[in-house]
Amino acid sequence: MTNAYREDFPILLQDDTIYFDNAATSQRPRQVTEAMRYFDENCNANPMRGLYRWSIEATERYEQARADAAELIGAADSREIVFTRNTTESINLAAYSWALHNLKEGDEIVVSVMEHHSNLLPWQMAARQTGAKLVFLEPEPDGTLTEQEITSKITEKTRLVAIGHVSNVMGVTNPVKLIAQTAHKAGALVLVDGAQSTPHMQVNVQELGADFYAFSGHKMLGPMGIGVLYARKELLEEMPPFLSGGEMIEYVSRESATYAEIPHKFEAGTVNASGAAGLSAAIRYLKNVGYDTIREREECLTARLMEGLRGLPYITIYGSEDPKKHCGIVTFNIEGCHPHDVASVLDTENVAIRAGHHCAQPLMKFLGVGSTARASLYFYNTEEEVDRFVEKIGKVRGWLGY
Ligand code: ALA
Repeated sequence: MTNAYREDFPILLQDDTIYFDNAATSQRPRQVTEAMRYFDENCNANPMRGLYRWSIEATERYEQARADAAELIGAADSREIVFTRNTTESINLAAYSWALHNLKEGDEIVVSVMEHHSNLLPWQMAARQTGAKLVFLEPEPDGTLTEQEITSKITEKTRLVAIGHVSNVMGVTNPVKLIAQTAHKAGALVLVDGAQSTPHMQVNVQELGADFYAFSGHKMLGPMGIGVLYARKELLEEMPPFLSGGEMIEYVSRESATYAEIPHKFEAGTVNASGAAGLSAAIRYLKNVGYDTIREREECLTARLMEGLRGLPYITIYGSEDPKKHCGIVTFNIEGCHPHDVASVLDTENVAIRAGHHCAQPLMKFLGVGSTARASLYFYNTEEEVDRFVEKIGKVRGWLGY
């Protein structure tokens, strides 16, 4: 079946490469690269500083991106959107500016075993520095977090729950709303790592109950180097800056400084305005496609892929049996073959997948493996690609000498 969206993605038209590494980064449609090119060729100037036309337009485009991001995730106020480089930086901002100033010995930070290292290491650092303790939510073998597990681990000692919305390995969607309700009842805040959910599903931070929500532009058709930290206004207002220097100030004397209003006090130095313009275009593109279409396409492709792989008896698929619970991510191993060898031999066949620990080593340990292969799909992939992929996977053992 052809897929009309592919016409918008020059990289996908180059040759017959099967790009199944969308959870690592998605591809960019022309509309995004054109928006960035427009910025570079028509209004490239430092935003918020210049009083001339180019700088004013650069500022407008940058702030429009902020409004677009706020609308996309249902933030009440665009001042609740802080631009960062990526999800990792967003989570670090929350860890350095909120956690280090609000946690103390005896407090608990609840995370899950499934977290990407980006949503684990900043909390390890915060725990080390404040004396707080990390508590882990243990999933069921298929990745599900049960209500029992959630309500037993989130207690009156919990000050923060930091949870991935969608696992980058198993693709499971965590019950963030239930987690947030439980956390709020216990008086704790909730940070949601939305890196793997924002590209695939309609998110509303207020409905979810997220106090902090982090995501990256590059996994949702936008450019690399632009990410978002959403935080409730009251939290941002109380938090000190993470980085300091240019543009984030109100007044500076020799010895001290007062800071700009939110969100600018968190955006020190020259910002990535061209990237923000690209993110705006990516958001527009995603909205035009529609999250319903994205979900339908991904579910259909994932079901086909899982069915194909299940036909090969030496393959183990991790996570749920239900393709609808994979968010386009299918992580697997081929008996007897190292995932790195699988990915390398597939590369010689023009197939791009990720292999390794996926920056989720505690989860690898939980699964009892050192590494896995991972195919991650997006709406622009096709049934024909899935069929070719399965056919090639069927040959991998032979190519590797089994
Ligand atoms: N977090 C990205 C992934 O899972 C890089 O591949």
